[in-house]
Amino acid sequence: MADVRKLLESRLRAAFDAIDPGADPVLRPSEHADYQANGALALGKKLGRAPRKIAEQVVAEARLDDICELVEVSGPGFVNLSLAEDFLSRQLASIADDERLGVDVAPVPQRVVVDYSAPNVAKEMHVGHLHGTIIGDALCRVLTFVGHEVIRRNHVGDWGTPFGMLIEHLVDVGESEAVEELSVGDLDGFYRQARASFDAEEAFRERSRRRVVLLQSGDEETLRLWHVLVAESVRYFEEVYAKLGVLLEPEDIVGESFYNPMLNDVVRDLDALGLLVESEGARCVFPAGFVNRDGDPLPLIVQKSDGGFGYAATDLAAIRDRVGGLGANRILYVIGSPQSQHLAMCFAVARLAGWLPQDVEAVHVAFGNVLGADHKMLKSRAGTSVKLVELLDEAVERAARAVDEHDGPGDSNERARIARSLGIGAVKYADLSTDRLRDYVFDWDRMLAFDGNTAPYLQYAHARIRSVLRRPEAGGPPAATPPALRAPAERALAVALVGFDEAVNAVVEANAPNKLTTYLYDLASTFTSFYETCPILKAATDEERRSRLLLARLTADVLALGLDLLGIEAPERM
Ligand code: ARG
Repeated sequence: MADVRKLLESRLRAAFDAIDPGADPVLRPSEHADYQANGALALGKKLGRAPRKIAEQVVAEARLDDICELVEVSGPGFVNLSLAEDFLSRQLASIADDERLGVDVAPVPQRVVVDYSAPNVAKEMHVGHLHGTIIGDALCRVLTFVGHEVIRRNHVGDWGTPFGMLIEHLVDVGESEAVEELSVGDLDGFYRQARASFDAEEAFRERSRRRVVLLQSGDEETLRLWHVLVAESVRYFEEVYAKLGVLLEPEDIVGESFYNPMLNDVVRDLDALGLLVESEGARCVFPAGFVNRDGDPLPLIVQKSDGGFGYAATDLAAIRDRVGGLGANRILYVIGSPQSQHLAMCFAVARLAGWLPQDVEAVHVAFGNVLGADHKMLKSRAGTSVKLVELLDEAVERAARAVDEHDGPGDSNERARIARSLGIGAVKYADLSTDRLRDYVFDWDRMLAFDGNTAPYLQYAHARIRSVLRRPEAGGPPAATPPALRAPAERALAVALVGFDEAVNAVVEANAPNKLTTYLYDLASTFTSFYETCPILKAATDEERRSRLLLARLTADVLALGLDLLGIEAPERM
């Protein structure tokens, strides 16, 4: 049992239950003690009793002697809890022996499908795709680490009517020309020209329409041309993923085209279930609870009046495949907030149809927009959308300059490696550390700063500890376990270290990587205070030195593992 908060909560719950079954202890980390339980306030109101009296009863009944040194009522009815020194040292000793650094494995491992990244073929990936890719990737890493089986799904947009126009454009410019253009990542240029021909020429429009029919009927030459477009785009996506250092592999790409053969069954089965309604020629489902501004029921359009399928049919087929085929217990959709109604309606229809049973969770892990310094959608200086490869290269270049200013290690290969870790880490960390639902402003100077809640700050804190641990004076007999926690800064660091499991769990519970960034930033700050007030190598006694070395080592280990779970490298020296 390493999640201290859960441990405290279960003990407190027993005491609260005795007063009012099911009452929530409302346990929070606190500035006044290590934790504070505020549940007596709501309970007092509910039962018409003085909250202080309830808090006193909780203190008298909760069995916390082995965990806390101080449990006291404060203010109108808060319960302040301070962890006991020997409890903390015992916890630290067990973390020190544990390569998972105290993070428990989930009691019930699940199979979790994570749908993320999902760029579109022959269209530029934008910073929104980058944002979702980074969040999704961190969630995959954390879920895997706590023992879940993760299946990644890159739901690439590789099918639909625009492909008629794109293939005709490919034919017009010539295959090798087109491949050239796409291979340098000029996806938007290609798309724009195709669109321009489509808008300008009736003949091109007609060819495009015929091409869609050919594509849908499986014409061999058309499929070959379609493959050229897909392959070139995927090559470009892979380049971005490689620079970014994400887990996504080519085999994770299961694009919209994969579900195409299943769409007729979706319609047929919805019809058989009596869920389909014809509305203006389109075949729709009206799930309860979704209305437009005028209060009229909203349709989820499964098949358009021309017989074509939209995103809804594909997403429904994907749910069936993920539940029925892959056996998912949970599906995470890491997709921008604007899609939230579409997804909620797909989930509702899939539940109605029995394709998404109650015991399978489907969650929209939504995220906000990435904005430029002007607080508008991020654009390049030329006003076009930002090319991701260039953005990532710029991050590394800027980091290289910062490394030069910081006079790190002399070897140029190592400096280049550090710059890469720093630059890419900074971009990822900035994406991960904001509340994912909020829009966030992409700001080079802030994300690359060596102070504040940034990747470079944490990476530097980690490297600094490692350099202390490499010193000859740090050698000698193994560290003292359990460590002594006499100084307040030692104790504060111990409290922070035992909170790692709680932070990792919080990421899983809320699908929120920023729970971990906040934790790591607090840990690094707590370490800084410790480092300033508690000499390590020059400690007064040998025992104290070894004990502090252990605290330092654990801090570096937790920082490195925590960053790794976010997909960020922690160089040994900087
Ligand atoms: N390709 C879409 C886009 O770029 C995102 C797809 C999201 N995934 C999904 N299962 N609907 O906006």
